[in-house]
Amino acid sequence: MKIAVSGKGGVGKTTLAAMLSGALVLEDHRVIALDADPDANLASALGVPAEEQITPLSEMDEMIKERTGAESGYGGYFKLNPKVDDIPEEYGRRIGNIHLLVLGGVKGGGEGCICPASALLKALLVHLAIHRDDALIMDMEAGIEHLGRGTAQSMDAMIVVVDPSPWSVQTGQRIKKLAGDLGMKNIFAVANRTDEQSQVDIIRKQLGDVPLIGHLPTDDRLQGHIVEMGPDGQAKPSEALTANLQSIRAMLNEIQIRVGAVSTVPDGSDKESR
Ligand SMILES: Nc1ncnc2c1ncn2[C@@H]1O[C@H](COP(=O)(O)OP(=O)(O)OP(=O)(O)O)[C@@H](O)[C@H]1O
Ligand SMILES: [Mg+2]
Repeated sequence: MKIAVSGKGGVGKTTLAAMLSGALVLEDHRVIALDADPDANLASALGVPAEEQITPLSEMDEMIKERTGAESGYGGYFKLNPKVDDIPEEYGRRIGNIHLLVLGGVKGGGEGCICPASALLKALLVHLAIHRDDALIMDMEAGIEHLGRGTAQSMDAMIVVVDPSPWSVQTGQRIKKLAGDLGMKNIFAVANRTDEQSQVDIIRKQLGDVPLIGHLPTDDRLQGHIVEMGPDGQAKPSEALTANLQSIRAMLNEIQIRVGAVSTVPDGSDKESR
């Protein structure tokens, strides 16, 4: 499953993306967590220490050159579909079985920029093949205007995070319309910071035909990291994630039922060695 997380600024996209990644890794899935926000902070939600600087893929000049056959900068020829499948293993920051990839912004590209770095990022989003037991969670920057058609269509589902603030649901509706225009089919909403059932009911009503697949309360523990690396090298849930795990699992189940994807229950019968 490839799930994109979007919504208005500050609604809780990164927090939810980290919670989904944590819940999935606890169920033995390999998770590719993609931070597609140029103002990246998924790493800290996943417990990567603040002093650790992760080089975004868009700044890995040598790798981009090697994959695309291009010198950095513009002009000249380069491959539009570079090999990307090994990038999570090779270049991801591992938090247990979560492979975090920070995409970074493509500087100076402007609209319609075709430069080696953007070709690589696009190929990564569109062509990254994932094993059936793997999950890809993409934390997006606010709004989806920057999302290309190819990327949108390569996602199995998009979650729009909304909160009880007055414009949030309107933004959600706008995102839904844009997502529909881009050819995305499975669009869901999650209500964040809802402490009363009445808020959930209002949001559900305002959302109209966008299914509300779950809600999360205000929980100050969510302001810390969501996942951390345990002493055994495995990803370990924070107290905040543990407290909200049931809700997150219910959301994932709801998506699976509605998208018609394979069961999340790992039966081990068809696992390939990795
Ligand atoms: N349910 C919650 N309870 C308490 N704090 C929360 C909750 N959800 C998110 N937060 C906090 O609110 C802040 C914004 O959340 P987050 O960074 O996840 O939003 P975002 O949508 O990714 O923002 P941006 O648009 O800047 O990327 C963070 O400090 C986060 O820890
Ligand atoms: Mg964010």
